[in-house]
This record gives sequence, structure tokens and C-alpha cells, in this order.
Amino acid sequence: MMMMICCAPLLITSSAGNTGLEMAPFIKHISFHSVNVIGMQRVNMPRAARLFHNTMLFFRQSNCQPVSPIQAMGFDEVESGFRLLQSGKHMGKIVFKAGSSQMIQCIPRKVREAQFDPNATYILSGGLGGLGQSLSTFMVSHGAKNLAFISRSGAAKPEAQSIIDTLASQGVHARAYACDIGDSIKTQETLATIQAEMPKVRGIIQAAMSLADSAFANMTHAQWNLSVNPKAPGTWNLHQHGPKDLDFFIMLSSSSGIAGTRGQGNYAAGNTFQDALAHYRRAQGMYTVAVDVGPVSGAGHAFEHPEILESLSAQGYVPLLESEFLALIQAAVTGETASGITMPTQLVTGFITGGILQSEGREMPFYLDDPKFHHVRLVDARSHDSIDANNSFGSQLPSAQNLTEAAEIVTAALAQKLAKLMMVSDEDIDTGKPISTYGVDSLTAVEIRAWTFRELQSDVSIFDVMSNVPISNLARTIASKSKLVSVEVVAADM
Ligand SMILES: NC(=O)c1ccc[n+]([C@@H]2O[C@H](COP(=O)([O-])OP(=O)(O)OC[C@H]3O[C@@H](n4cnc5c(N)ncnc54)[C@H](OP(=O)(O)O)[C@@H]3O)[C@@H](O)[C@H]2O)c1
Repeated sequence: MMMMICCAPLLITSSAGNTGLEMAPFIKHISFHSVNVIGMQRVNMPRAARLFHNTMLFFRQSNCQPVSPIQAMGFDEVESGFRLLQSGKHMGKIVFKAGSSQMIQCIPRKVREAQFDPNATYILSGGLGGLGQSLSTFMVSHGAKNLAFISRSGAAKPEAQSIIDTLASQGVHARAYACDIGDSIKTQETLATIQAEMPKVRGIIQAAMSLADSAFANMTHAQWNLSVNPKAPGTWNLHQHGPKDLDFFIMLSSSSGIAGTRGQGNYAAGNTFQDALAHYRRAQGMYTVAVDVGPVSGAGHAFEHPEILESLSAQGYVPLLESEFLALIQAAVTGETASGITMPTQLVTGFITGGILQSEGREMPFYLDDPKFHHVRLVDARSHDSIDANNSFGSQLPSAQNLTEAAEIVTAALAQKLAKLMMVSDEDIDTGKPISTYGVDSLTAVEIRAWTFRELQSDVSIFDVMSNVPISNLARTIASKSKLVSVEVVAADM
């Protein structure tokens, strides 16, 4: 018979805490107790005072020795150090020592926020388009009060007029100018008008684009011109006729100029012109940035045409969130990507790294075969052994013929993960026993749950992970909830 005793309040209690207490150890006639020393002060202060007094006396009489042995570990080994502590297999103390050559993970410092001058004008060419609208909202929320939009249609479209009206209702002096920036004379006139009608121009963001996709072999001259026009002659005209004493000249170029996108030779050429112009202007001492934007989800042309976003994702481009896009523009405006780190003249985004590919088990996109991207394949790449081991389980699941087979794959993956977490060898894990047998606490359970979600695409609860069932049963639950296992396979075996 087993008994759980709860004695005087807060002094001696059964130590189940918030986690389930494994019953097996009680067979060895042991009991668990914990004392809440802080709680003791509230319940019985004289007794707590006596305890502290006696403890200090004990120290002063040098009856205490430092705990030994002391195991020193580097700051870069913090994770394995805590795992060792968690496993309860160590003796004495673990001390972490800082070393100058150790690489550690840290939270980046907060970046400087962009501040736009409320007494200045900012020109947004193409700014009434999708990303331009998002940009203008961002600029207004960071102080801008005067915005001049340039596009071929000006305020003719009802959507454009509605953007101007909304900005006006927020106290922003916003005007739309109809001008094809590919036309040099018209651009010169428009820029002169803006400078005459509005406060001093302090910045230009060039976001004009026009797509006319076609395989290069079939591309007409008109298609070529339509797409190159706002990017090459258009940007050159803004450069040539615009003020020279700007705080910034930012171009929304595209990563398509770097890696290429199918059927967009004209667009890619226009973007590489913008990249080159950024370097040219910087060399002349004018602060300029070309942000080679990848596909953006949340705003902009690609987002408004989901088939484009899908096609670009399939080609191996990684969509940026709207917030990430705005963070890039903020960095371009302030000149700092992170505290103290200067914004480069050209910043390319949208490419997948070797590390992401490995962690998501995705196919190698066409551009990573190009030797100039070799270094991108190495970014974030972890040791090949662990990646292969992780990936192989996730990639095996879709080919499972039935739930039993899928559960076997997950059982092997779970055993390997558990062995790594608890610092034991894979062979020491008995999948016929519950996970709790191996001393898994609630924090480790959270980690296992996150890993299950990430690697096996299965959303199980902490309750599932901690339940007192064999690991093989838990694996079956995980497999049945995995998005990598088809509904038919699950249904057939239920
Ligand atoms: N959205 C994305 O996912 C993405 C990805 C990579 C790069 N980018 C870059 O981000 C920028 C903005 O993209 P977006 O998605 O906002 O495009 P968008 O919604 O198509 O807007 C483009 C704007 O450019 C104007 N425009 C086109 N040709 C022009 C010309 N010759 N002269 C003056 N204005 C002209 C258009 O207005 P009118 O038709 O009235 O002229 C429109 O307002 C572009 O530079 C693009 O290359 C976007």
C-alpha cells in the first residue's frame, strides 16, 4: 500500500508539483518531500528565523565544504550543461566559464527606428501600388506629413483617390502626380512641380514596376520596353532630374535580377540596372540603397496575385512577410541593419539557405546549383549527420503504406530525439515504456512537442506527450495527427 502524506502547511508536502509523478520508484519504499523555505516565513516566522540563524552558524563554524567535484564548461556548452543537470546524472556542481573564442547565441540589440521629417516631402514613384501603400502607412506612422506619389495614372483610379483621401483624413498632405517616369521631359517637369508645390524634398523611394512576362525567345520589343521602362530609364530620370541633397534614394529592386525568374528577362534586366545605379550613386557620395526584394506576402503585386506567389515559392524563393519588408526599408532609411551595422548599398533577399532547406527537407532550388550561390548553401547548415537523421524521418512519413508503418517511423524518430535530450544512447530507450520513465519534465515535454510540430508536422498536446503510455503508443498518436501522413492512410488503419 502506498501513502501520500501532507503534514503541517507549507512545511512538508508530497512533491508532485505540477507534473505527473511516476509511481514506479515508490516500490523501493521511498518518499518524496519538498520544503518551501520562502513559504515557511509566511506561516511561522520565528521558526524560519531559527532555521536561518542555525544555518548561518553552521556556515561560520566552517562545517560546510564547497560541493565537489566541480565540472567546468564553456558558455558555448550551456545547453548540454543544463541537459546534464536535468538528467540528474552529474555529481557536484557545473560551472560555466566564459572564453574569448566561444560562439554563443544572443538576442540582437534593438534597431534604430526610422524618423521622417514632418516638414519635408518624400516622393514615392509607383507608391500607389501594393507595396507603396504599405510603405506610405509606415512612413506616416513614423512622422511623414508630406507625400508626393508619381504614377502613370495619378489619382485617376478610384483606389488611388481613396488612398489620398485616407491620408488627408490623417492630416497628411498627399498629392498624386500623373507621369510616366520613363519619359525624361515629363519626369523633369513633374519633379519641378513637386518642388514648387510642396515642402523641400528629402527622400525618394522608387517602387514603380510594370510586368510583361514572356519567354525571352518570344518576347516582343513592346513587352521588353514596358517592363524595362519604369526600372531603367525611369530610375535614371529620377536620379538625373531629382534633387541631389537627399537623405536617401531607395530603389525597390528585385532578387529576380540576381537569380532570374522564368519569363521575366525584361524585369530582371531592369532590376540589375537599379542595382548598378545604387553603386554608382553611392560612389558619387549620395546615400542610395537598392533593396532586392524577394516575393512579399501580405501586400504588393505578388500577394494580390496568389498564383505568382505560388509560382515563385515553387521556384525556391522565400516570401518576406510585410513586416519584414518594412523592417528592410526602415534599415535602408536609417542606414543601419542592426545597432551599429551599416546598411549595404545593395541588399538581396528572398533566397533560401542551405540550413532552411535541410530543416524543411525541401528540394534544392535551381539557383543554388549556380556556383556563385555556393556560400548560400552553407548558411545555417548544421552538421550533416544530424540534418540527415532529422530529415530522413520527416521525408519517410509520406511514403508509409499504413498507420502502423508511420507509427514505426515516428517511434524511431522519438527514440532518437529522446536519447539526444536525455544524453543516453539510442539503444537505452525502451519504446515499450512511457516517456516519463526517462525523467522527462514539463519543459522537456514542451521541447518534444515543438520538435514534433516542426519535424513531423504533427500538433499533439503536452498532455499527449506526458501521458503514461508506451512511447510506441505516443508515436501512433503523433503519426495519426501528422500532416505528412495522408488522411486515407490514417483512416484505413483506424
Ligand atoms: N510585390 C512583390 O512581391 C515584389 C517583389 C520583388 C520586388 N518588388 C518591387 O517592389 C516595387 C513595388 O511592387 P508592387 O508590388 O507594389 O507593384 P505594383 O502594385 O504593381 O505597383 C507598381 C506601381 O508602379 C506604377 N508604375 C508602373 N509603371 C510606371 C511608370 N512607367 N511610371 C510611373 N509609375 C509606374 C504603377 O501605377 P500606374 O500603372 O498607374 O503607372 C503602380 O502604382 C517594384 O519596384 C517591384 O520591382 C515587389
